[in-house]
Amino acid sequence: AEQSTLILIKPDAVERGLVGAVLGRLEAKGLTIEKMEMRTMTDDLAAEHYAEHVERPFYPALKEFMTSAPLVALVASGDEAIPAVRALAGATDGRKADAGTIRGDYSLSNQRNLIHASDSPESAKREIDLWFG
Ligand code: CMP
Repeated sequence: AEQSTLILIKPDAVERGLVGAVLGRLEAKGLTIEKMEMRTMTDDLAAEHYAEHVERPFYPALKEFMTSAPLVALVASGDEAIPAVRALAGATDGRKADAGTIRGDYSLSNQRNLIHASDSPESAKREIDLWFG
């Protein structure tokens, strides 16, 4: 079924000049870019976006990183887009992500891992409303 998903091309990808490479993979897959904007995450937006992680020990470092520099937020759509983008992204930890995935090919970190993608229809709705509502 047709789905929309919220994707963040994270500050590490912007800093490394990999926005085009990441977007190219999304486009090559056949996803449709519906909305896209360069934004800088605020502390408040980070706390809302990462509500399920706020109490985790890694949250302060995650917030510091995600608010440190601009990122590219976008909504992409397509058939089964939510799992499709998760598969393109690969495992959270770039050191363990399969080669051929975005994280597997470009990251050696579990934090500076280039991309965020909604993990369920409920998350996608919440995150799209949060970023583009
Ligand atoms: P993301 O898909 O944006 O969702 C939560 C983020 O937290 C994740 O990608 C990583 O960037 C980060 N993260 C998850 N686990 C850890 C960890 N153990 N240490 C540091 N960062 C983490």
